[in-house]
Amino acid sequence: MKQFIQVQDVLTPAHPNIQAAIHQLVTEALAYKAHPLKDNHLGTHLRLGMLFLNPSLRTRLSTQVAAANLGMESIVFNVDKEGWALEFEEGAIMSGNTVEHIKDAAPILGNYFDILAIRTFPSLKNREDDYSELYINQFIHYAGVPVISLESATLHPLQSLTDIITIQEDLLRKANTAHKKPKVVLTWAPHVKPLPQCVANSFAQWVNAWGAADFVITHPEDYTLDTRFTNGATIIHNQTEALQDADYVYVKNWSTYHDYGKVYENDPAWMLTNERLALTNQAKVMHCLPVRRNVELSDEILDGPNSLVTTEAGNRVWAAQAVLANMIKTSKQS
Ligand code: CP
Repeated sequence: MKQFIQVQDVLTPAHPNIQAAIHQLVTEALAYKAHPLKDNHLGTHLRLGMLFLNPSLRTRLSTQVAAANLGMESIVFNVDKEGWALEFEEGAIMSGNTVEHIKDAAPILGNYFDILAIRTFPSLKNREDDYSELYINQFIHYAGVPVISLESATLHPLQSLTDIITIQEDLLRKANTAHKKPKVVLTWAPHVKPLPQCVANSFAQWVNAWGAADFVITHPEDYTLDTRFTNGATIIHNQTEALQDADYVYVKNWSTYHDYGKVYENDPAWMLTNERLALTNQAKVMHCLPVRRNVELSDEILDGPNSLVTTEAGNRVWAAQAVLANMIKTSKQS
């Protein structure tokens, strides 16, 4: 694996089939969960540079723990708070607020680090700009070392790999003897401000590629996502209908995609409650966190027996460890 930006990056010569490649990565992650230090010399004398252009709790700390488990040093740089303001546009006349061009900064970072991991965010002002993924693509272009997305303008692959690990682990724990595909529902939830589509896009991209679930997405009509990610899922605008017999419900808010970055309908009835959960097959409930309690998800769900959110957040370590290990092995082979 030479970069980890989207689901197709899991494809390798050894695993040219996407479903098999995801299955392999999930298996490796669960093996790390069982034995966290089994490869604790793999990353010896290697350095991971972690650049944050936006805040983080889980992504930052789980990736640092994962690196430590592999014997790899990680250094965090909060670019947004501590760094020079970066310019990403080619040919920019830098007479405004930006101080350093990415084509000067990225090769230096590539000199200091063996792998770079980067969190960016969308502006939510201009869809074409955000969906061009300029920031992370410029890092990939100029750094000269493997790049891991810690969430980009449109995708969050470490979160989505974690989500599949969490579902797979739960299925294994239940010894899913019925051999029936689980029904996985991604549901839009209300929120107080416009949020990116990254987590929803990415979850849709990974679950569709995984192919091991009956996948339904439900949202009010205004919140249609980019079909490049949702194609393969059944889209239902009636949440009550969508939740019927669900085995897993993934709750997430996102802002509008077409009239970009807006909050339109924000009906509190879309918040998942125990009453709504009763429509499901005693579904497990997932959310990437952070969550606005009693806006996106009710206390009774988050604090109740069906919530997988803490397990899910814990699994961020094993997803990051599997990806880092894969990348280190690839660079040692080349
Ligand atoms: N889920 C997630 O990415 O959390 P953080 O923003 O805290 O990293």
